[in-house]
Amino acid sequence: MTPLLDLQGVSKSFPVRKTGLFGRHRNEVKALVQITLDVYKGETVSIVGESGCGKSTLARTAGMLLAPDSGTVKLNGRNVYGLRAREKLALRRQMHLVFQDPYSSLNPRLSVGEIVGEPLIIHKVGDARSRIEKVKKVLAEVGLQPHHLNKYPHQFSGGQRQRIALARALILRPDLIIADEPLSALDVSVQGQIINLLADLKKAHHLTYIIISHDLSVVSHVSDRVIVMYQGRIVESATAESLFQNPCHPYTQLLLAAAPRLREAPRRRVRDHAYETAGIVPDQTGCQFAPRCQKTQEICGLAPPRLESAPNASEDHQVACHFPEVI
Ligand SMILES: Nc1ncnc2c1ncn2[C@@H]1O[C@H](COP(=O)(O)OP(=O)(O)O)[C@@H](O)[C@H]1O
Ligand SMILES: [Mg+2]
Repeated sequence: MTPLLDLQGVSKSFPVRKTGLFGRHRNEVKALVQITLDVYKGETVSIVGESGCGKSTLARTAGMLLAPDSGTVKLNGRNVYGLRAREKLALRRQMHLVFQDPYSSLNPRLSVGEIVGEPLIIHKVGDARSRIEKVKKVLAEVGLQPHHLNKYPHQFSGGQRQRIALARALILRPDLIIADEPLSALDVSVQGQIINLLADLKKAHHLTYIIISHDLSVVSHVSDRVIVMYQGRIVESATAESLFQNPCHPYTQLLLAAAPRLREAPRRRVRDHAYETAGIVPDQTGCQFAPRCQKTQEICGLAPPRLESAPNASEDHQVACHFPEVI
């Protein structure tokens, strides 16, 4: 079976210029390093990791908005960055991105009807009358009323705005929705409603999701597969169940320790000191996590660990660590 989305060895760096005490220097941030990832139709894949680890860069690269420096991105088997403009537009209908902040991602000058209906105009779908009907239908699907059509984003709450963003994402009936932290700007009470809405929409439209979050607990119960990122790399990838039962990477264990509700009986407390040292650490020769890790040995400073099958875990559980936890 061809994966719906297929990333092979995707890397992306950004140049950074810094003016410091000793003059200017150039550097680069490796936002993505050799990311390989398959997403199959119908799956919900979550990508988690702390701020700055490259999640949004991954969303934009997978979402046809940002070409990688190297590697390939395929949607339905077609290389998305090797296409001509018209082919790219056609392929773009098959996926849609939803961004984190519903306050800034919706154009304040456009009415809800215009925001939600705009993709129909861009892709030249139907006439004016049929577009309005489509917009009304999709608004109902996300729990909004037909009279909301003529209102403006500022007249809505955060949760309702995220519903508007979802209506816009759905209107072209895409196969894949990539949602970049869709809940983190919302109140906890509203987060649950949006999660439920995402689940309902998935069922109704046979959608495939990539949901990005910095918080494991938010995405845990809706994901089929969870991918943990650290400094631009995938450090662990597993079914949600296997990841929570048997987290193998010390960083995943740290994330789980920060969300203790997830594990019924934590076997061991992982000290959370490493959170205090979070931030951009210069590229390491060996394992990127080594400076924060409590299990480091000599090899960790010398060779980068590869993403490989985790010991004693389910078959599709992979981890990039020289000393993965064996339970
Ligand atoms: N356009 C850009 N220019 C320079 N650096 C960037 C740009 N976009 C992202 N970065 C850097 O790349 C790294 C990953 O960023 P991002 O993908 O936004 O992480 P996340 O979404 O996980 O917080 C960060 O260090 C960020 O500063
Ligand atoms: Mg981000």
